[in-house]
Amino acid sequence: MTRRGFLSLGVGLFTARLLGKEKTFQALPLKDVQSLPEEDFWEWVRFQFPRHPTLLNLNNGGVSPHPKPVEEMLGRLEAAANEAPAYVMWRVQDKKEPLRQRLAELSGADPEEIALVRNTTEALETVIFGLDLRRGDEVIAAESDYPSMMAAWQQREARDGIKVRWLRLPLPTDDEEALIRPYLEAITPRTRVLHLTHLINWTGQVVPLARLCAEARRRGLFTIVDAAHSFAHLVYRFSELGCDAIGVSLHKWLCAPFGTGLLYVRKEKIREVWPLFAAPADRKADDIRKFEHLGTRSIPTEQAIHAAIDFHEAIGAQRKYERLVSLRRYWLQKALEIPGIRSLTPDKLAGGLSTIQMEGWEPTRLADYLLEKHQIITTAIDWKGIQGLRVTPHVYTRFSELDRLVEALWKARRG
Ligand SMILES: Cc1ncc(COP(=O)(O)O)c(C=O)c1O
Repeated sequence: MTRRGFLSLGVGLFTARLLGKEKTFQALPLKDVQSLPEEDFWEWVRFQFPRHPTLLNLNNGGVSPHPKPVEEMLGRLEAAANEAPAYVMWRVQDKKEPLRQRLAELSGADPEEIALVRNTTEALETVIFGLDLRRGDEVIAAESDYPSMMAAWQQREARDGIKVRWLRLPLPTDDEEALIRPYLEAITPRTRVLHLTHLINWTGQVVPLARLCAEARRRGLFTIVDAAHSFAHLVYRFSELGCDAIGVSLHKWLCAPFGTGLLYVRKEKIREVWPLFAAPADRKADDIRKFEHLGTRSIPTEQAIHAAIDFHEAIGAQRKYERLVSLRRYWLQKALEIPGIRSLTPDKLAGGLSTIQMEGWEPTRLADYLLEKHQIITTAIDWKGIQGLRVTPHVYTRFSELDRLVEALWKARRG
């Protein structure tokens, strides 16, 4: 056989193997997936996600694609609802209680502490604007918190005369005490609230919350946690964090439909928080459902969260976390061999998201170069002194794709 013949036979066999696998994958019920051999298992996961034909998506931190089972459920519900929306959506599909129950089990909370909202911004701003604070009361937050939440606190400063103390955390660090100390040192007799970000979106730094929340509770302070990036990414339970309110975007690491989120408020604290959209008069002040009075929203979108939970559970929270960490360590270790690259992400207090700096390359120029020359999507970060290139692989990312990223960074270095 000629060389060309051998080559095409090889390609043919390879394709057949892949197609064979895809067929097997298609037939596999979710419950049987866990027992696939390791690399087949991750290929199965990959097969569940739709992918762009040319772009390599390494900004899964912004918002996650949802896997096919979620897309299918969403499509089915949407089509059914559209035939008679007022009847189908509100009378047939709108079953919030079983969903609340599942989200409570998933997050380690009581169902009476979980409200269904649309994203972290809505969850946290509900709490930021819902707390009774007086002129002169103080809030402690960090410059590395998310800009929308900073804006919300600044609005309260302007309207209500409260004072926000902005911390600059010593990033990156694997030293838990170094992260806890600035918060504790900033507390004064006027402090009422601690605003905390669990996994910092700029660099992937994880902030140890349980100790901080326990210290805050001892002092009678209200703790608000931004868990946009930590939920369904790190492995933890709300009840273990011991904080008072948590905001989550389910369209990030849980891979639920766009525009899904949850708000957790500790039972004893629900009464202290006013809803952002006024609840009807018959809704009691200590009922978590008072935070769900949004007006018309997409019930198919909300109900398709079920499929995302199924998918997350089929992977397994611990296995998912370990995969994300190993993807991060894999590419970072290789990238750090390139002269002039340094990491802004700690090794231990981190998950899958990380940020690098490349000497001589301003972040936007590097992100543009990777996109235009190599079809790789990343995120340029430039926020309060943090400058770098953020890379967020996902459970469907192959190690070989991260090699493609590292190769592109080498090319940028060599010019
Ligand atoms: C730390 C953090 N908080 C909040 C948000 C806002 O999330 P959403 O736009 O889903 O409300 C983000 C989005 O990236 C984030 O990274």
